[in-house]
Amino acid sequence: MRKSKFLSIFLAVFLSAALMAGCGSDTGRRNREVRIGMTVYDEYDTFLSELTEDFMADVAEVNAREQGTAVSVLRFNAAQSQITQNEQVEKMISKGCNVICVNLVDRTDPSMIIEMAREADIPVIFFNRELVEEDLMSWDRLYYVGADAFESGKIEGRTAAAYLKAHPETDRSGDGVIQYVVLEGEAGHQDSIVRSETSVDALIEEGIQIEKLESSIANWNRGQAQNRMGQLIDRHGDAIELVLANNDDMALGAADEYDRRETPAKERPAIIGIDGTKVGLEGVRNEKLIGTVYNDRKGQAEAMLKLALAVAAGEPADDLPLADGKYIRLPYAEITMENIDQYDN
Ligand code: BGC
Repeated sequence: MRKSKFLSIFLAVFLSAALMAGCGSDTGRRNREVRIGMTVYDEYDTFLSELTEDFMADVAEVNAREQGTAVSVLRFNAAQSQITQNEQVEKMISKGCNVICVNLVDRTDPSMIIEMAREADIPVIFFNRELVEEDLMSWDRLYYVGADAFESGKIEGRTAAAYLKAHPETDRSGDGVIQYVVLEGEAGHQDSIVRSETSVDALIEEGIQIEKLESSIANWNRGQAQNRMGQLIDRHGDAIELVLANNDDMALGAADEYDRRETPAKERPAIIGIDGTKVGLEGVRNEKLIGTVYNDRKGQAEAMLKLALAVAAGEPADDLPLADGKYIRLPYAEITMENIDQYDN
């Protein structure tokens, strides 16, 4: 999609200032090094693997464009263990990282990481899995990059409502009420809790009569969602008219189950996700999903790199949209068949 003009301008200004202030005697050689440590809760998570890919592409762009600059990234997969992630951060510090980007495994347990970073005076940017405010405020070199979960749920609900109004046949039972199920992400994740609530609120606000049949946790995962959807179908049969999934992978898992059962299109519920991952977009294009909500991973990756370069150098990040000096949240956007061509990523 949009390419990073903002990033280019920012980097040009930031890096020239940094180079002037840096070890200027090495003219012609790489004389500015930024080492970024990065750990994700699970590298097999579709959204995060795409976000990481975008981040690495941005880093490569900086290195190619800025002579005399070497940004390197030391990457780790925490494989769903907070203990492993704490050890990874320890390693990053011992290997001389100047800034650390953490996608927490357990968003309620950042204390070890904060303590180690603080002791070594290395700034930390948390991303995507939001720690509680009290933890983020506990030291001035801690930041968060993500998005506003409330907005994603609202857009999901509104998009579903618009579809239902345009497709009255979705109410297969003809009772004037849409029977729905929810596929939820991890229990305790800010996005699961908030998206599940606000998507339903938005449907009600839009005047759709709804009835919840059941919700089921599938931990953001396509395979688990397929399995859960199988159980939901076994219990509720073709009464299910709408599937609200907290992300695209789970929405696609639900569609996979209908594919496995060879359910004809007319007998399937409307299925909607959130993220706009590559596979999610493909799901919208081939009409497995009625829509999705763009979780701006490119914007998040870009903001994280800009912030990382600024804070690593101890620069004020004045030109970044930092709320409370701490938070950068990128907006979400609706994606349907109508506008999907803008999202050719
Ligand atoms: C994304 C999910 C992802 C999760 C991981 C959410 O913001 O929508 O797809 O699995 O973050 O933390």
